[in-house]
Amino acid sequence: MSQRTLVLLKPDTVRRGLVGEVLRRFEAKGLRIVAMEHRTIDGAKADEHYAEHVQRDFYPPLRDFVTSGPLVALVLEGDEAIEVVRALNGATDGRKAAPGTIRGDLSLSNRENLVHGSDSPESAEREIAIWFPGL
Ligand code: CMP
Repeated sequence: MSQRTLVLLKPDTVRRGLVGEVLRRFEAKGLRIVAMEHRTIDGAKADEHYAEHVQRDFYPPLRDFVTSGPLVALVLEGDEAIEVVRALNGATDGRKAAPGTIRGDLSLSNRENLVHGSDSPESAEREIAIWFPGL
């Protein structure tokens, strides 16, 4: 079933010059980019996006990180896109993510893990509305 999912190329991806490398992997897999924007977000936007994490111990540094510089937000579309993107991204902690995945190949961090992908159809709908209202 064709789905849409919200993906963030976080500020570490932009800072490290890995936007092209990460986008290449999504495109090579066959996912289509249906929206994409380079932007810097403030804390309020971070809180909205990460609403389910705002009370967690790891959230304050995560908030600082995602607001620390420009990121690239995009919507990808394709068959089973939510699960496919999560598989390409790999496990949250880059130190534990499998080789061959974006995080497994390119990240050594649990926080600066390069990418975000919606974790369910409900999250995708909520997150796409936050980042690309009207899409
Ligand atoms: P993401 O998929 O965007 O969802 C929540 C983010 O919080 C996650 O990627 C990481 O960037 C970050 N995160 C999750 N767990 C931890 C943790 N234990 N320590 C630091 N950052 C974390």
